[in-house]
Amino acid sequence: MGISFKEVSHYYRGLKKKDITIALDKINLDIEGKGEFVSIVGKTGSGKSTMLEHMNGLTLPSEGTVQIFDYVITPKKKKNPKMKDIRKRVGYVFQFPEYQLFEETVLKDIMFAPMNFGMKEAEAKKKAIEVAKLLGIQSLLNKSPFNLSGGQMRKCAIAGILAYEPDILLLDEPTRGLDPKAAADIMRIFYDLHKKTGITIVLISHDMNIVYEYSTRIVVLNDSHLTYDGDKVELFKSGIYKDNHLTKPDVLKLIDYLNEKMGYNIDYNTFNLQELMEKVVKLHE
Ligand SMILES: Nc1ncnc2c1ncn2[C@@H]1O[C@H](COP(=O)(O)OP(=O)(O)OP(=O)(O)O)[C@@H](O)[C@H]1O
Ligand SMILES: [Mg+2]
Repeated sequence: MGISFKEVSHYYRGLKKKDITIALDKINLDIEGKGEFVSIVGKTGSGKSTMLEHMNGLTLPSEGTVQIFDYVITPKKKKNPKMKDIRKRVGYVFQFPEYQLFEETVLKDIMFAPMNFGMKEAEAKKKAIEVAKLLGIQSLLNKSPFNLSGGQMRKCAIAGILAYEPDILLLDEPTRGLDPKAAADIMRIFYDLHKKTGITIVLISHDMNIVYEYSTRIVVLNDSHLTYDGDKVELFKSGIYKDNHLTKPDVLKLIDYLNEKMGYNIDYNTFNLQELMEKVVKLHE
């Protein structure tokens, strides 16, 4: 088991004693340490980011326990394990990771985290170059990270996390603010990495097209409650997506239209527009 939530609640306390926001309410959830691509979805303020922060010990539960591999995190700070050990195994890409950059060059920035986790300099350099190639930023290695575009900065920050090879990668809206091509490119990189190495990915996204294309499983939050955990096709076949203020992915809207208006009978096991076009062409062959 990779991550296990047992009756986890999280309260944010305001200035006054009675100002309490319940961000998570008695959540139970198990995520494998290998081979899963889980998307967390739900409307704004439903508790997604708070939930992700519990997955590598950035936030402590108010009630309940979070187990991350062999480490058990409880509401009691003093009893908790060393967070550094957990962070090495579970990498967290913040919503705007570019704010975390600080070194003189992109290369040094990517090398920082792996060296901080004990990797030797030569090995960290080799690894940094390898991930920079994977992300297509190898030509930027000697530049200052502050002279890059927003999308390049984000890739640089992501490279710094991939360089220490975590078992689980947490992504909070990694495509937000990127142009459509850059967003598609970066999702493809995460997906290929997941396929190649089996790294478990936990993704928060409001983009149902991305969620439907890549997830092996979807978790839905609604007003601090977990309201769905399971198969992506089932979620959109049932009315549950509507009850949780989600919209259908474009490919499913198009399938509904073709089936209703044109008499087709295409099933929901079609995860992007390319697959749909190929299915339609095949039906006419
Ligand atoms: N630092 C904080 N202090 C007080 N309340 C907070 C804090 N962070 C989040 N909250 C509240 O907790 C609830 C859950 O917030 P969270 O950021 O987890 O939602 P989210 O699902 O990630 O939303 P979004 O889709 O907008 O990113 C919200 O009601 C939010 O206002
Ligand atoms: Mg959020």
